Amino acid sequence: MNDMTPTSAERALKLEGMGCKRKRVEDVRFTQGKGNYVDDLKLPGMLYGDFNRSPYAHARIKKIDTTKAAAVPGVVAVLTAETLKTVNLAWMPTLAGDVQMVLADGKVVFQNQEVAFVIAEDPYVAADAADLVEVEYEGLPVLVDPLKAMSKDAPMIREDLKDKTEGAHGKRKHYNHIFAWQAGDKAAADAAFAKADVTIREFIVYPRVHPCPLETCQCVASFDKIKGELTLWGTFQAPHVIRTVGSLISKIPEHKIHVIAPDIGGGFGNKVGAYPGYICSIVASIVTGRPVKWVESRIENLSTTAFARDFHMDMEIACTKDGKVTAMRCYTIADHGAFDACANATKWPAGLFSIISGSYDFPAAYCLVDGVYTNKAPGGVAYRCSFRVTEAAYCIERAMDIMAQKLGMDPAEFRLKNLIRREQFPYTSAFGWQYDSGDYQTAMNKAMESVDYRKLRDEQKAKREAFKRGETRDLMGIGIAFFTEIVGAGPSRACDILGIAMFDSAEIRIHPTGSGICRLGTKSQGQGHETTYAQIIATELGIAADNIMIEEGNTDTAPYGLGTYGSRSTPVSGAATAMACRKIKAKAQMIAAYMLEVHDDDLEWDVDRFRVRGNPERFKTMTELAWAAYHEVPPGMEPGLEAINYYDPPNFTFPFGAYICVVDVDVDTGTTKVRRFYALDDCGTRINPMIIEGQIHGGLTEAFAIAMGQEIHYDDEGNVTTASFMDYFLPTAVETPHWETDWTTTPSPHHPIGAKGVGESPNVGGVPCFSNAVNDAFAFLGSTHIQMPHDNWRTWTAAEKLGLHA
Ligand code: CDP
Repeated sequence: MNDMTPTSAERALKLEGMGCKRKRVEDVRFTQGKGNYVDDLKLPGMLYGDFNRSPYAHARIKKIDTTKAAAVPGVVAVLTAETLKTVNLAWMPTLAGDVQMVLADGKVVFQNQEVAFVIAEDPYVAADAADLVEVEYEGLPVLVDPLKAMSKDAPMIREDLKDKTEGAHGKRKHYNHIFAWQAGDKAAADAAFAKADVTIREFIVYPRVHPCPLETCQCVASFDKIKGELTLWGTFQAPHVIRTVGSLISKIPEHKIHVIAPDIGGGFGNKVGAYPGYICSIVASIVTGRPVKWVESRIENLSTTAFARDFHMDMEIACTKDGKVTAMRCYTIADHGAFDACANATKWPAGLFSIISGSYDFPAAYCLVDGVYTNKAPGGVAYRCSFRVTEAAYCIERAMDIMAQKLGMDPAEFRLKNLIRREQFPYTSAFGWQYDSGDYQTAMNKAMESVDYRKLRDEQKAKREAFKRGETRDLMGIGIAFFTEIVGAGPSRACDILGIAMFDSAEIRIHPTGSGICRLGTKSQGQGHETTYAQIIATELGIAADNIMIEEGNTDTAPYGLGTYGSRSTPVSGAATAMACRKIKAKAQMIAAYMLEVHDDDLEWDVDRFRVRGNPERFKTMTELAWAAYHEVPPGMEPGLEAINYYDPPNFTFPFGAYICVVDVDVDTGTTKVRRFYALDDCGTRINPMIIEGQIHGGLTEAFAIAMGQEIHYDDEGNVTTASFMDYFLPTAVETPHWETDWTTTPSPHHPIGAKGVGESPNVGGVPCFSNAVNDAFAFLGSTHIQMPHDNWRTWTAAEKLGLHA
């Protein structure tokens, strides 16, 4: 070795492996407008589909007349439920074990429901002709309020289920009831409440919101009659699931379906499920023999595909008088709209909601969720959330603040007193989850020190006095949220979708010259997978990240996987990637031993090479070993250097975080200014700190949007009043606050590289933090809970109710 020979550390740096702030490789095409999205696809002879939709939320269909629409020049066909019945596709199964109308069959059950599908030579002709489909309706009473869904005189939404006493998850209590799901120990919780010193009870609503990705849902279906093969391009977060479900519904053999998800412009849960647009495009392509494209408009996206949340939670906490929590109970009504099209693992109709005991050491806990039908769009997806974790985190974090207020304790002190302690990990919660690792006190203390929490409280105290003296009309609020997520669905014993175990996969091939390709069962929608998976491989195999191609989204080439949502890519496919690397490395070690004429055990790994123990001058680099794998393998060994891993995680991963927010609320206008937002996240081993920071910024921006303004609102007639960005709050750079990010690192003990998911954490922790800040601003005036969203009007109204405008 001479002075010019790079050291191990220098070689490691060059690989751009784990821990490196590697620039996103996908941005080279995205920032130049060269992405390849579904709507960029142009096939010869392509037709375009568009929907006629219901103006009513609940109405019987007396007649559908498609004559005028069909007569428009350029219209090729018009589909209705009657047409779909000829191929047995008028209804389709949902991921939640329910069925859903593809096109309205006999009646409509939510506004903007799909009634007819017009296929034309041109998208504008299809849209114009869709308006000419004549539908005769007879209005029916409308059910909007989920709290009235199970009342005696509630309108019946689902006549098809009239005689069904059993649902997908057991007995139905009412004709509008979908499921009842409970967790925890009711008797133990009740007993603790009976002898509690202090209790609180609050009705906490997480309104209906929508993921609203910038690119809406869309697809192109192309059926080849000669080969009997269907190719489906689409905005799919889970392409393999779409292929399997597509095969089961259409009866086209699965090997003759090719699903391709090209670049996707944001998903956030909106693109997990199957929608009528996909089914209609497929049928239309089969009927016409030509490719058919369907692209959702913004209004269609916001009002019909995949809402999120809509959880109405009656939350209670019991406590000793010195501030130790003893039990929690929560009863929830979940509004699912007209069909249960939730994207949850099969066994979990309310998702992973039983993470609701949060980060605290509750000895007893119980929750019960009733799912109900209303005249609203179907869905219940996890909007940047791991299956209802966001609802749970919001509920517990609001409730902890309310209890602190009742006890007269500082909310941070109250949390510190009840956080699960480091030595309790792995910690089994009262709901039975085994939290893998955590160091909550360190995170909370670091967050408090970073923002100088004590000083902020002093300032707040002074401001409150000034407010009382009439010297200011601003209220200062300090919000705290300490959240624990449960991500990485999932262990197959706990999680499946339609019977398919929720494992995931990675297949790696190293080429003779030492570069390679890795294909995975996940699918990025903007999270930067092409950058970060390559970093795992770089560290594991000593091949520069730039020399690894990452490919996702083509079911013909990618190994089977369950897709990307619920922050599962890193916990599951990230683990599969590391495990596949380790198989490759083991083979490379045998080749190295053969070439260096030593025993395998005499070799040690050094960044990008195997070297002989005690004789580091003798080594073989991965590049040399890759070449050898194709021409010089030991006798009896198969040539080539590739491996595949299907990873079934032993447990979920439990990322956590401590967030603190400072707001100033003007009581006369209801305007809330976010002065500071500090987010400390712990996602275990960090693969790419810059990507993590980007994920946190994006998720916090969505959390800000949800907490401060987003709501999919329906009037009493079931009209959606927030179906465009004129009414639905989508923050731009102008409204978005500045974010301060920080971290601690507590690796997951069961993940091969110690990583936990992170993508959803900021949404999970951000929403309660904003809400706690606004609520904290008013708390000293006796207010206990102001419902989200905290837009100017609602905040002004809260001030009015407190008599602040007198
Ligand atoms: O499933 P999804 O990709 O949405 O979520 P994720 O697994 O939390 O990953 C989001 C992005 O953050 C990916 O690019 C990951 O590689 C990256 N990440 C990371 O760099 N380190 C972690 N410990 C977790 C995620």
